[in-house]
Amino acid sequence: MDEREEKEAQLAALAAHVRACTRCPLSATRKHAVPGEGPVDASLMFIGEGPGANEDRTGRPFVGNAGQFLEELLATIGLTREDVFITNIVKCRPPNNRDPLPNEIDACKPYLGHQLKIIDPEIIVTLGRFAMERWLPDKRITRVHGQSFRYGRRLIVPMFHPAAALRNPEWRTFLEEDFLRLPEIIEEARAMREAPPDEETFSAEQPRLL
Ligand code: URA
Repeated sequence: MDEREEKEAQLAALAAHVRACTRCPLSATRKHAVPGEGPVDASLMFIGEGPGANEDRTGRPFVGNAGQFLEELLATIGLTREDVFITNIVKCRPPNNRDPLPNEIDACKPYLGHQLKIIDPEIIVTLGRFAMERWLPDKRITRVHGQSFRYGRRLIVPMFHPAAALRNPEWRTFLEEDFLRLPEIIEEARAMREAPPDEETFSAEQPRLL
């Protein structure tokens, strides 16, 4: 097995754990858990809030209206959903699409942690408040959307959630503009990874605005 196959096997084993998970009450009401999908060597990872009805039905992330919009946004920078890894903060649907609760987010946290370790993306784009709060708990999305924050070996880029942007024309414009900046941020992340390691790269406790 080469390194890629090894990582794919790890990711598949993790997805199987997620599908069988009973760590929080959402497991009782879900139809399908939604571990996430994309290439194991993706340099870009998109993290949403949690599955909705379509995702719960199919077991795949971002397959409803928000997903369609996400695909359109990716197309504006020459990418498809197959080029990126897409997942969520909680892997099971909160009933009636309510916000995920702190105990649900906590219970699900190790799964995303493992996915990050295996995939090691250069850039994490957080979609909406719940994903942003994992790395940038004291920031306001209206102030920081589209900016990149260095966090160890990665850049965190908070953006509005596509579902919220579909309901709010101003946020939609912000989200479209933020996507158009992504190619520049991808270059920034590459340069950061290629630079000789400095102390900050390995010891960054706090995200730093670039
Ligand atoms: N909204 C999310 O946050 N995630 C999905 O997978 C779908 C819609």
